[in-house]
Amino acid sequence: MISREQILEVLEKYDKEKITIGVIGSHSALDITDGAKEEGFPTLVVAQRGRHKTYEKYFKLRKTRDGLVKGFIDEVIVLEKFSQIIDIQEELRKRNVIFIPNRSFVVYTGIDRVENEFLVPMFGTRSLLRTEERSEEKSYYWLLEKAKLPYPEEVKPEEIDEVGLVIVKLPHAKKRLERGFFTAASYKEFKEKSEKLIRLGVITREDLEKARIERYIIGPVFNFDFFYSPIDEEIELLGIDWRFETSLDGHVRLPAAQQLTLPEWQFEPEYTVCGHASSTLRESLLEKVFDMAEKYVEATKKYYPPGIIGPFTLQTAVDKDLNFYIYDVAPRTGGGTNIHMAMGHPYGNSLWRKPMSTGRRIALEIKRAIELDELEKVVT
Ligand SMILES: Nc1ncnc2c1ncn2[C@@H]1O[C@H](COP(=O)(O)OP(=O)(O)O)[C@@H](O)[C@H]1O
Ligand SMILES: [Mg+2]
Repeated sequence: MISREQILEVLEKYDKEKITIGVIGSHSALDITDGAKEEGFPTLVVAQRGRHKTYEKYFKLRKTRDGLVKGFIDEVIVLEKFSQIIDIQEELRKRNVIFIPNRSFVVYTGIDRVENEFLVPMFGTRSLLRTEERSEEKSYYWLLEKAKLPYPEEVKPEEIDEVGLVIVKLPHAKKRLERGFFTAASYKEFKEKSEKLIRLGVITREDLEKARIERYIIGPVFNFDFFYSPIDEEIELLGIDWRFETSLDGHVRLPAAQQLTLPEWQFEPEYTVCGHASSTLRESLLEKVFDMAEKYVEATKKYYPPGIIGPFTLQTAVDKDLNFYIYDVAPRTGGGTNIHMAMGHPYGNSLWRKPMSTGRRIALEIKRAIELDELEKVVT
């Protein structure tokens, strides 16, 4: 793991008047750069050829003929592969980049290299990023257990009949970065469905053996986009989102009769995220959610010092008795925060009395840290 001293050494050489906010061109890069620009920072996106135009063309900062300003991304570095970001670190350091990690960055670069080779100050907690790898022994489930937070219990296949509906979490056989999740309400269904999905090439037997099987929480899904400020030592709720998933969302919009006549190869929905929506939460439930966030932050301070820095998302489902279960934790900016882009979100805006997206909140914390000369508190 890149040490604190190494990062502070890099930071030491930075020109604090010329900090640039950098991010990989994927995930929530638009929210991050929009927010950074709003707070007056230069912005840099490291993109991959083939999906670079969003940043290099459509949202790039430029002047119109009549002198208007359009766009908010100052500079784009286009790589053949995202993973080559490791080779351009010097370029990033030269530009005094504070890098905002997201899930795409970790997945494309590889967690080992993020931990050991990416010598650029990151806003967030480097050591926590690994907790997202579900196959790790010390995954987020481990941390939730330590924090005494509720999560859907793990279930063995033979126990499904007792527990009821479960979700089986494993990667897609062909689309390796996507999900090959499926649900089953009995051991028999689990056996039949998994055989069928293997036959159809959706999942593999190897992945199935390592799959996480857990209780399916029947209820709505809320992703709570929180922010922990090391400067104020406070938790803020910035927004709440939920996701559009294909083909699941298409399936639930079909009448039941039509669902039942689908051919075998269209029978099982997939869970590929392809969009996000905004939501609010019944007010009487908010405090429960703040309590969960407090416990999570406490646990990260204890087990991953200095603890979580900045944005994190608790992904939850709520059952019929209004109990929350955390089924996933993003210890970095959440995948759904583009819903905040430029407009903020009711919770963040009301708190700060102005539009406050996750991207803007990150930039604001960096700006305050620079002014207070406490930058070392917010990077790892
Ligand atoms: N235990 C669960 N009960 C109900 N739905 C779940 C559960 N776990 C996951 N889901 C659903 O599956 C989706 C993806 O799950 P998640 O654990 O976040 O996977 P990933 O790590 O790929 O993001 C969620 O958006 C949610 O709708
Ligand atoms: Mg998730």
